[in-house]
Amino acid sequence: MDPSFENVEATALSVFRSQFYEAPQVISSAPGRVNLIGEHTDYNDGPVFPAAINRRIAIAAGPRPDRTIEVYAGNLNTRAKFSLDDLAPTRINSWLNYLRGVTELLHRKGDPACGANLVVYGNVPRGGGLSSSAALEVAYAHTLMTLTNTSHPPMDIARLCQQAEHEWAGVHCGIMDQCISAMGRKDAGLHLDCRSLTYRHVPLPAGARLVICDTGVKRALASSAYNTRRAECRAGVAVLAGVIPDITSLRDVSLDAFLEYQSLLEPTVRRRCRHVITEIARVEQTVKAITADDLALAGKLMYDSHISLQRDYEVSCPELDAVVDICAEVDGVYGARMTGGGFGGSALCLVHAEDVPETVRRLTIEYPQKTGRKPSLIVTGAEDGVSARRI
Ligand code: GLA
Repeated sequence: MDPSFENVEATALSVFRSQFYEAPQVISSAPGRVNLIGEHTDYNDGPVFPAAINRRIAIAAGPRPDRTIEVYAGNLNTRAKFSLDDLAPTRINSWLNYLRGVTELLHRKGDPACGANLVVYGNVPRGGGLSSSAALEVAYAHTLMTLTNTSHPPMDIARLCQQAEHEWAGVHCGIMDQCISAMGRKDAGLHLDCRSLTYRHVPLPAGARLVICDTGVKRALASSAYNTRRAECRAGVAVLAGVIPDITSLRDVSLDAFLEYQSLLEPTVRRRCRHVITEIARVEQTVKAITADDLALAGKLMYDSHISLQRDYEVSCPELDAVVDICAEVDGVYGARMTGGGFGGSALCLVHAEDVPETVRRLTIEYPQKTGRKPSLIVTGAEDGVSARRI
């Protein structure tokens, strides 16, 4: 079965009954994401423009009387548990750290503690750069809130999940992935300002589809390389703050000011800053183009973004470049680029609905020829964010 059509909530519910011999009381699910444009801008206080996709992580849950959270991970076929009295990160079953972190942070907000049995089951590819961890965090936060009859504004939940990722998983991510998983909307991208945290849903033109190609490349050191990029951006701000008054992040540096002072920057830092500053401008131009139904311009900006990520930010890889090159040759493709943190993961192609089959055909044939790897393809529109309910 094509996993995009799989109802992960129904699977989680039925697995729950067979694992725990009782009826689940809550079902929640949250989506993975693609970023249409605005890569590595979130932690520089800039804008992003992601969309939720048709792959989700579902959690079926029921309360239990003790202070234990017991989880059956359907995709891993593993069962594990932790105590509400010991929520510090651990090395064993490190995937549970996301849950430990979210649990602890909800308790700190004053939510009541509640033991629970859970089944987690999803079809967001792990390590595919489509934010499976944000989907897990957001779905789990909503599971606990629904079990304990509490609620918090979506932005508070996104920030809490981001904090769990920083402190329990050691990845110093921006706010984009958790926001879109919590606030995605069908047929719209999320134009989010990562400084003010204000946002707007921008409808995507009817007839446009997204083809996502998971390259199958997973680089082990991706999270430390990600943290290095963050540090390089901070180093750039430290130098530029000496000559440009009142700047606290690259968001505050105009292209003109950058061009004037770029010679003060060490070459690597200069290229990193150039990517971020030009990418921030591309987000705003893309949102305008999408609003004006100008998909040709939006597509061109996607290609520009990819080149900037490849040459200046140096987070692409030959496999991601191969996907973009193949897509660029297909009629009906508006644009393509790597999406997410990079160093492997997925590339995204914006294409007219009628030309999806040809795009899929060409990637299926040509990607293995160019790279020796098999692509995993997802065809999606923009979808809704998290949902949770009692049953
Ligand atoms: C990862 C992070 C996001 C963002 C992207 C790059 O997905 O989790 O916060 O920084 O990389 O745009």
